[in-house]
Amino acid sequence: MTGPTDNLRINGERLWDSLMEMAKVGPGIAGGNNRQTLTDSDREGRDLFKSWCEAAGMMLGVDKMGTMFATRPGTDPDALPVYVGSHLDTQPTGGKYDGVLGVLSGLEIIRSMNDLGIRTKHPIVVTNWTNEEGARFAPAMLASGVFAGAIPLEYAYDRKDPDGKSFGDELKRIGWLGDEEVGARKMHAYFEYHIEQGPILEAEAKQIGVVTHCQGLWWLEVTLTGREAHTGSTPMNLRVNAGLAMARILEMVQTVAMDSQPGAVGGVGQMFFTPNSRNVLPGKVVFSIDIRTPDLAKLNGMRARIEAEAAEIAEALGVGCAIEPVGHFDPVTFDPTLVERVRSAAERLGYSHMNIISGAGHDACWAAKVAPATMVMCPCVGGLSHNEAEEISPEWATAGADVLFHAVLETAEIAG
Ligand code: GLV
Ligand code: MN
Ligand code: MN
Repeated sequence: MTGPTDNLRINGERLWDSLMEMAKVGPGIAGGNNRQTLTDSDREGRDLFKSWCEAAGMMLGVDKMGTMFATRPGTDPDALPVYVGSHLDTQPTGGKYDGVLGVLSGLEIIRSMNDLGIRTKHPIVVTNWTNEEGARFAPAMLASGVFAGAIPLEYAYDRKDPDGKSFGDELKRIGWLGDEEVGARKMHAYFEYHIEQGPILEAEAKQIGVVTHCQGLWWLEVTLTGREAHTGSTPMNLRVNAGLAMARILEMVQTVAMDSQPGAVGGVGQMFFTPNSRNVLPGKVVFSIDIRTPDLAKLNGMRARIEAEAAEIAEALGVGCAIEPVGHFDPVTFDPTLVERVRSAAERLGYSHMNIISGAGHDACWAAKVAPATMVMCPCVGGLSHNEAEEISPEWATAGADVLFHAVLETAEIAG
């Protein structure tokens, strides 16, 4: 076994071309993408990725959550595979790189190995996890959560989008329901390369984030029940105003997050008013609270305080309040050996680097439950993500993919 030498590099131009090619599938309205999970655009993106994997000589497996696993065999038939993955689905107003960079960099390292005639002892499996974003079906990282045994398959199939369509039906409809049992695969290691989605690496002028941890999360879906009534003729003292309760709860979430500093965030990104008419007080308001921090005790404390204070706010207004947790994972510590491998790859390649905690959730968080796992990050312009204007440079993309290449080769062990 020989380790990767510092002259081994991926083909950055080919990686960038593939990113731009994938970005043509499910275009957004402002230069980014709307390739939400299990839509026709998702199917088109999957088909394109499949054709690239097959052209690179890989074998494709698909599990019952629709997750795609493209395998390049190793030389040792008994060696467990090294997995490299992320996601091709996007937010409704998503960028071109969130998730896509990780999947296509996985493909690029295989293409580079083919060019360079490199074989590895362990197989390498490039993975496209279904529904990482959770934009259409909550929670995020749904398929990797089922894979890790944290989310039941039937629960996943029953998740509904805002139009009432179920995950299970939509997976069948786009033709990507596979036959593999979810989670049956065993991993030697899991790597995920992702844009930072925050401002730290760019501000610190570092090319590589060595990801040591990921913060934990709760998504709480709040349903407030008021009374529909005329906005003009109903006196103020006779209103049962679910919209007002929501506004007060939003303010309270902000206060809880600010009181939990440093290292905690909280906010609301989705809300539905019923009937959503200008001159009707809403009878029903459904919205989702997203809270995150790397500190488990703090995370659970924030949740408890939000639930208690939301109930008080609603009660004072005579509004009904039900809160359902619809997404959760504990803070994650990534595997120290793999983390060190990422750091030493950055050193060997001469890229500047620093340790970083992931602010966003990733499939790596669930993979870390079943295998040694870690991540590589590159900067993104202005820290902007979940926005069509999300941007990275070809040089940043290449540097992170080079580091991924080296860390994966070291783990998969170059044969001969
Ligand atoms: C996934 O994109 C998340 O919400 O962190
Ligand atoms: Mn992502
Ligand atoms: Mn995302």
